[in-house]
Amino acid sequence: MGLFLVVLGLIAVYLFHFYFIRRRQLPPGPFPFPFIGNTYSFAHTPIDTCVQKWKDEYGDVMTVFMGHVPMVTIHDSKLIYDMFVKDGDAYIGRAQQRWNEIFRPAHTGLIFSEGSLWRDNRRFALQVFRNLGLGRNIMQERVLDDVTLLIDFTKKELNAGTTEFNFFDELDISVGSIINSITFGYRFSRDNRTEFIKAKKIATEQVLFGGSILYRTMEEHRELFRYLPFFRDTYQMIMNHTAEFTEFLSGQVATHRKNIDLESDEEPTDYVEAYLKHQHKLDKEGVKDHPFSETQLYSGLLDLWVAGQETTATTLAWMVIYIIQNPEVQKKCQAEMDEFVGDRIVTLDDKVNLNYVNATVAESQRLCNLVPINVPHRTTRDVEIRGYKIPKHTVILNQISTVMYDERYFPGAKTFKPERFLDEKGKFFAPPELMPFSVGKRACLGEGLARLELFLFTANLLNQFKFGEVPGKPITGERIVSATTAPAPWVCSISVRH
Ligand code: HEM
Repeated sequence: MGLFLVVLGLIAVYLFHFYFIRRRQLPPGPFPFPFIGNTYSFAHTPIDTCVQKWKDEYGDVMTVFMGHVPMVTIHDSKLIYDMFVKDGDAYIGRAQQRWNEIFRPAHTGLIFSEGSLWRDNRRFALQVFRNLGLGRNIMQERVLDDVTLLIDFTKKELNAGTTEFNFFDELDISVGSIINSITFGYRFSRDNRTEFIKAKKIATEQVLFGGSILYRTMEEHRELFRYLPFFRDTYQMIMNHTAEFTEFLSGQVATHRKNIDLESDEEPTDYVEAYLKHQHKLDKEGVKDHPFSETQLYSGLLDLWVAGQETTATTLAWMVIYIIQNPEVQKKCQAEMDEFVGDRIVTLDDKVNLNYVNATVAESQRLCNLVPINVPHRTTRDVEIRGYKIPKHTVILNQISTVMYDERYFPGAKTFKPERFLDEKGKFFAPPELMPFSVGKRACLGEGLARLELFLFTANLLNQFKFGEVPGKPITGERIVSATTAPAPWVCSISVRH
């Protein structure tokens, strides 16, 4: 009886603290249940739809409970710039999700790290991208190699009589090849897809799991859940993926170690080579406890691979779907290409003339709204937002997906309309509310690369091919929401234009 009363007392204290102390100080939001918070809603409705609905009810600054952790979400574009850009340092932290202790030990990597570990490694990664040619012709050539391989493959298939394309798989391996060539220095072969498929499968399952309700529920108490039937299997699956991906990454790093000349002055040709040389230099100089450890290398590679592959391939898949569903848009893109390019390969030099193509890429990014819930940040000091006093260490995020579907900024937001990004002279412009890569200090590290890929693939594919539906197999465009939003499986028909 005594024990029962103690347990009852503890529960009462927990509930009092949860509902009256914590909730009272925070912006309003949907009613949370103890332990699971608002995650129960995601069991039957996708997370972005829930957040959108709550935003309409509670306003531009609101609180959602992920389990028992409150997460303040911001939906107003101007407020987002005031907070995340002008006062960026206050929101530069990352919410420490506990699964990351498995995937990325000691909060390493690029996405979930913080402080000088994050800053130095982010700066280093951006520098390596630049050294590998981003912003110059060299990176364009890398990307165009994969664009050309895809075009040649598609033409070969057409000549062989293929009438139905599972084109996502082709976009997927092309984008996978680019990030693999940047990180590890080699492309994936279409003749032997086993290696790509293996790495991709693990990355995909991580992304899927990352968006699932199981993840949200198990997150905080995985030590407990790992012993419970049903959850135990999920836990084991995650451990297996981690082991398989680590094996993939270790193999790559080991191969580099075997062949590398750490003393050579030659410019590195991939990220791992650049990293190992930099690490060697710091070690040789006797720099103690530098942030370029072996663990950091693995976690950074995991982040570059997962964040750099699926995002871009899925956006391109949506672009193909939208132009099939909107044949007049496809025609306008192609007319523009006929006027300014002809049958050759499109390059960045053409970008300035291809206003409608640029607008089509922008509108595809907006409408596909790839990231249903942004990667959570953390306040690094006490802040005040619209009268709410938000303490240091609060989980907070700029909800880019509600901004990009907001009727205040994009009237008729659910329709595909590239013209919204053309001014009265037909010139492309990108309004500040178009923020697929987020904004501020933690905005996407791969934005430059992704923009390059999106433009070169879109322009060249639309220039070379006409895309359509396969008779009897309509493309539903159904949105499958996990950590990103992917289209339901689809196939298309393709014909050559030139
Ligand atoms: C269409 C493609 C892409 C989209 C829509 C996208 C979107 C995003 C978003 C929304 C974030 C979170 C920003 C925030 O926390 O506020 C992010 C972070 C990140 N992205 Fe991307 N991304 C794309 C492609 C890429 C590529 C190609 C790479 C790498 C090669 C990449 C690497 C990263 C990394 C490392 C971060 C973490 C940045 C940090 O915390 O400092 N992404 N991305």
